Amino acid sequence: MAHQYDVIIIGSGTAGLSLALRLAAYARVAVISKTELASGASYWAQGGIAAVLDTQDSFTEHCQDTLIAGADLCDPNAVEPIVKLAPEMIQWLDTLGVNFCKNDTQTQYDLTREGGHGKRRIVHAHDATGKAIQTTLIEHVLAHPQITIFPHTIAIDLIVANKHQPEHHFVQGVYLQNCQTEQITALLAPCTVLATGGASRVYLYNTNPDVASGDGIAMAWRAGCSVANMEFNQFHPTCLYHPQAKTLLLTEAIRGEGGFLLTPDGQRFMQKFHPQAELAPRDIVARAIDHEMKRLGVPCLYLDISHKSKQFIQERFPTLYEQCLQYGIDMTKERLPIVPAAHYTCGGIQTDIYGQTDIPRLFAIGETAYTGLHGANRMASNSLLECLSSAYLAHGKIQTVIQSPMPNQPVAHWDESQTCDPDERVVITHNWEELRRFMWDYVGIVRTTKRLQRAYHRVQLLKKEISEYYWRYRVTPDLLELRNLVDVAQLIIISALLRKESRGLHYNTDYPHSSAAFLKPTVLNPLVIRTLTEFV
Ligand code: FAD
Ligand code: SIN
Repeated sequence: MAHQYDVIIIGSGTAGLSLALRLAAYARVAVISKTELASGASYWAQGGIAAVLDTQDSFTEHCQDTLIAGADLCDPNAVEPIVKLAPEMIQWLDTLGVNFCKNDTQTQYDLTREGGHGKRRIVHAHDATGKAIQTTLIEHVLAHPQITIFPHTIAIDLIVANKHQPEHHFVQGVYLQNCQTEQITALLAPCTVLATGGASRVYLYNTNPDVASGDGIAMAWRAGCSVANMEFNQFHPTCLYHPQAKTLLLTEAIRGEGGFLLTPDGQRFMQKFHPQAELAPRDIVARAIDHEMKRLGVPCLYLDISHKSKQFIQERFPTLYEQCLQYGIDMTKERLPIVPAAHYTCGGIQTDIYGQTDIPRLFAIGETAYTGLHGANRMASNSLLECLSSAYLAHGKIQTVIQSPMPNQPVAHWDESQTCDPDERVVITHNWEELRRFMWDYVGIVRTTKRLQRAYHRVQLLKKEISEYYWRYRVTPDLLELRNLVDVAQLIIISALLRKESRGLHYNTDYPHSSAAFLKPTVLNPLVIRTLTEFV
């Protein structure tokens, strides 16, 4: 069968767009995006990209810091190649036109520091690095004749041939819904790539854009892929605490440039928790803030950089300076009220470093994938690096896949004949709220087995209700996202229940220590998932 495209990429973040540009040299590429091209987390990235570019730094140290932050759960075979690719990825972006900050003579990158990094190694574009990268990538993608964009189009499910015969199965393409007309079509290609970003919207309070509903992870799981380490959801320590600020992240680079974390009475406290104080790995800082807030019974703590000069703050953090002013806070003069919020999905679809999943002709890259780079806790600014490196590593493998002919298998048309228009949309809004609330309350920064079990009972109930609704009524984008969120929530809860220890981002007070018995990723395989009663 002749296909219009060689590769379907679902997602237009840094992972998806950089892969599209690399593939377009020899392939016809379709890029699917749920809303606008700049909708993903990539656009909102602040701090930067980690890369060894200073003569005083080394790949060994970047690898070592990553392994330490990952609490012994990173895969060194993923860490080393990804870290070593970093300088080349920065050079590639620079050549495309990304305007990274440089020194006065424009000869060297201005490097900043963030949590867990022993050296200054974060390349940035002031405090809006993601915007600089995405704007450039989008410009190139839009100009490329080999790339076709499908904005406002949501992927519903992967089309898998021979799904129940693992030795013969493969992905043929994807069912898509146009978010404006709600029309559903099947798009087929010899290779499909999930670059759909993370799932932090499963939590009520998070730093992520609306699209981060874990769609890729849920679709891959339903298609038969293994997922790994879903218990490790990262909470960013510093989000602005303000009634009108929904999700304003205050970059870790503020601490990298000398900002302090303070209790309401103005005392620093991070030295009590870690020798690196404010620049300890992110899991430790978020947990320390949570601990201090509970100990003191206060709704927020504070981040203060007002001891630096006004000129420095305005030049280094121009976007945040303006945004905070809009909320009535002048960060050059006063401290910023902060709380932690869900930020990054360290686990995801299990892949190798080339993005290959369990199913032939299906790849996954970026935040949706689990390559082994992040282990039990991602080090700051290693995510954009992973997006770029994985796209680079995947494109060679994809070239081979698209050259091998796809077996000709009939594809079932989307059948809505047994469905009708939903009568009570309140079921969707109510379940969105309920799911994200109990995930925040029971599966958050500090967990207990009892809380996880409570969450487990609730997620089972919601999953049943949402599944019934899905099969009975015509689908809409918000129903599809809810269905994905409940699948992802279930995977997080089961993974958390299985890990009977504390490590990195997973802290369970019933098992407060790390255990050698759990020195491996939590891998869930949909074909061999154990019976549910085992977890409760
Ligand atoms: P995203 O950029 O999230 O893109 C996902 C894409 O998939 C979107 O286009 C979305 O529309 C699309 N999509 C999703 N589901 C579907 C579907 N069903 N159908 C069609 N399309 C779909 N990391 C760093 O390394 N450095 C930083 O400084 C940094 N700062 C951050 C600041 C913030 C506020 C946030 C939220 C994250 C930050 N991160 C940072 C993390 C990093 O930005 C993300 O991990 C990374 O950008 C993810 O890129 P991605 O391409 O995998 O996904
Ligand atoms: C930040 O700027 O603090 C976010 C960096 C990241 O998530 O890697």
